[in-house]
Amino acid sequence: MKVLVPVDGSQTSLDAARRAAEMAEKEGAQVTLMTVAYFVQDILAEMPPNIQEKLEREGQRILDQAKEIFTGKNLPVETVLEVGTVPANNIIRKAQEGQFDRIIMGATGKTGLDQVLLGSTAAKVVAQASCEVVVVR
Ligand SMILES: Nc1ncnc2c1ncn2[C@@H]1O[C@H](COP(=O)(O)OP(=O)(O)OP(=O)(O)O)[C@@H](O)[C@H]1O
Ligand SMILES: [Mg+2]
Repeated sequence: MKVLVPVDGSQTSLDAARRAAEMAEKEGAQVTLMTVAYFVQDILAEMPPNIQEKLEREGQRILDQAKEIFTGKNLPVETVLEVGTVPANNIIRKAQEGQFDRIIMGATGKTGLDQVLLGSTAAKVVAQASCEVVVVR
């Protein structure tokens, strides 16, 4: 079972990562953590290198934080850092191309308002992903 866990640094996305770690522990699921740094590829190429580095560092920090949940338990995990303007599109594409069986993600993230019950990234992935989607809240 291949599981994709999109993380954005929010507590809810870390809860999703914990859920995935449980699956790795009990069922031997192969987990990939993924974060999408907000940027347009074309602009990225023209951005000053220090801004690119900053973006990548922030993405890497988000991945490292989630990765700790796995390494702390000696569980294998992979990480992917992509750039894009609509994270749901990257997530949906990655799930399909990587032939993932399941996506585990948060119902909300770090960019939304507290009152929102289901964020736009979660809503789009639930609606359009080609595999099973588990939403953690
Ligand atoms: N940039 C991202 N990279 C990877 N995963 C993401 C990203 N943004 C959101 N996610 C995933 O989607 C889940 C839900 O976040 P979502 O963006 O839908 O809600 P929100 O930030 O509260 O609201 P909104 O973005 O619609 O204003 C997160 O917990 C995380 O699992
Ligand atoms: Mg968001």
